[in-house]
Parts: sequence; structure tokens; C-alpha cells
Amino acid sequence: MSYWNSELRIGSLSVPRFIGGPLDQLTDAPFRLVTRMFCESALLYTEIRHVAAVVNMPRPRLAIDKKARPLNFQMTASSTEYIAQACEIVLEQGVDAVDLNIGCPASNVVNCGSGSALMGDIPRLTSVLKEFRACLPCPFTVKMRAGFKEYNAEDVARLCQDCGVDALVVHPRLQKQKFRGTPDYSILASVKNAGSIPVMVSGGIKTFQDAQAVYELTGVDGFLIGRAQLGAPWLLRQLNDKAAGQEYILEQSLVYNAMYEHVQLLRNYYAHKGLVLAKRHIGYYLQGKEHAKLLRKKLHVSMTWEDILRLIDELYKGSL
Ligand SMILES: Cc1cc2nc3c(=O)[nH]c(=O)nc-3n(C[C@H](O)[C@H](O)[C@H](O)COP(=O)(O)O)c2cc1C
Repeated sequence: MSYWNSELRIGSLSVPRFIGGPLDQLTDAPFRLVTRMFCESALLYTEIRHVAAVVNMPRPRLAIDKKARPLNFQMTASSTEYIAQACEIVLEQGVDAVDLNIGCPASNVVNCGSGSALMGDIPRLTSVLKEFRACLPCPFTVKMRAGFKEYNAEDVARLCQDCGVDALVVHPRLQKQKFRGTPDYSILASVKNAGSIPVMVSGGIKTFQDAQAVYELTGVDGFLIGRAQLGAPWLLRQLNDKAAGQEYILEQSLVYNAMYEHVQLLRNYYAHKGLVLAKRHIGYYLQGKEHAKLLRKKLHVSMTWEDILRLIDELYKGSL
């Protein structure tokens, strides 16, 4: 079996190599369900949540739809406090893996000592990793960066492996680079050589060709798709099918169906608070469409859920 049509193993979990990466406030529960309309088997990530927030979150907000699985629940922490309780809560909901985020560059996250700040404080990171591992009977992954202020991805990768982490995701940029600039993929090769656990890349993978090029360069084991999923919840299906030597032909009716379902799911999940988010998502779907500028204008002046649904309907009927 070739690299491309074999699955990626993360501890006891076996999943296709293209994975739905986390984008806070975007790849939320509704987005994951729309993705599942196309792709049942891909591993999907939840967005970053601090362990303290998980402990204090109303349980219905944490409920996991069975259809969303296989699911990797992502958390971050500032210390060992709350980790045991948070792990117990998410395991109760039925997740397939837990991910520790040590890569988030956002100032509100870093300022409380979590996210990428953990890569700059090795003693604290060590205790956090050990505490998570001790609390998790399921696969445990870590999503990291090239480093916090300075590059230390290889050292952190070795530490993660020594602490029993099952797989790593590397976003090859420093904290100050946030999400901009060309990712330095050579870091992936160094991290891969530093240990023996699977290493996945996150950053700049939009097409199968992108993944092929990064694989040739680094030998990575899997690919997290981030921003390229927006407005394209079928992308994981297309990429995983391509890896298996098949071509997924996307029917236009399914595109409109996904847009329609996405809006309905956001409406049910967030009620009126979701309207702005729905407009944002539909904006992504409109990218590259004929008359996109005009359509965006129409979207901009949509004031109600019905306005947005009517716009999708008119698009589908070709009357726009
Ligand atoms: C708006 C936004 C939100 C993000 N939220 C998260 C998050 O919750 N957890 C995380 O690990 N990474 C998060 N990331 C980082 C992405 O998962 C990914 O590593 C980064 O965008 C690079 O990959 P891409 O080029 O495929 O988007 C976020 C990125 C963006 C742009």
C-alpha cells in the first residue's frame, strides 16, 4: 500500500491523512456538520478552549453530535489547574482524541500563559504535558508552532514524545508571524527527524499538489487543512479521495445544499447571534463565483435569516 492510500495512525486511531484543522469561531459545531455532509471519515478538530473555560461551560454547549466524530477536542492550559476536570468532561462527551494547543499566538491567550507561551516556558510545558497524558486514556496530540519568541520546535517535539504524546502538528511559523508569511517547511523535516511519532503539517496546504510537495520535502504523515476549508466544506472529501486515487466530482446542487444547510445549522445553534457569522460564511462560498461583487453587496444588505436563504435560493435557480 502506498503512502497516499494508507491511513495515518495516531495512537489507537486510524484516519485519512487530510484532517479538518481548527479555526476559532469558524470551524465550529455547525461547520463540522456541514463537512460531514461530504466526508464521514476525516478527523476534525474542535477550536481552542482553555481548560478553565471547558470546566465552566454549560454542558449543552459541549455536547458532541455523534456525526461530528472522529473528533479531536482541542484545549489549552496555563498550568496543571483544571486539566483533570476538563479532560473528564470532554471524555464524557465522547471524543476520539484530545489535542493540546501550544501554538496559538493571540495576545489574550498568550497573556494568560497558554497557547504558544507554553513553548517559551519548558518547565511549565512539561508539567502540563504530563498532567494531560496522565488524564487521557485516548490518543493525545499537540499542535505547536516553530517556537514562541525563538525557534525551538525540535526540542519541544522531543519533550512531547518523552511525555507520551501520540502525534504532533507543526505550524511552521513563530508567534510573532501569526498567520502571515511563507511557512518554513524545512522545520517539519527537522521535527520529523527529532523523533518517531507521526508529524502533521498545518499551514498553507490548499491543494493535493501542495501536500505532495510538502511530503516530498519533509516526509510528514498528515495534513491539517485550515483556511482553505472555508466556503469549501467538501475539500477534505476531495483531498482524501484524491489520496485514494479517486476523483470526487462536486455537483453544483450539493454546493447550494451545503450553503443552505450551513445557514440553517448556524441559525439553530446561535439563534440571532449567528446572523453575522452566517453572512461571513456565505461570503466565503461566494469567492470566485461569477458576479461575486454584486452577490456580496446583496449579502451585505441582508438583514434576516430569510434574506440570506432567499439569496442562496435565487443563486441556485440561476436568477442572480
Ligand atoms: C481565524 C483563525 C482561527 C484559528 N483558530 C485556531 C484554533 O482555534 N486552534 C488552533 O490550533 N489553530 C487555530 N488557528 C491556526 C490554524 O489552525 C492553522 O494552523 C493556520 O491557519 C495555518 O494553516 P492554514 O494556512 O491552512 O490556514 C487559527 C487560524 C486562524 C486564521
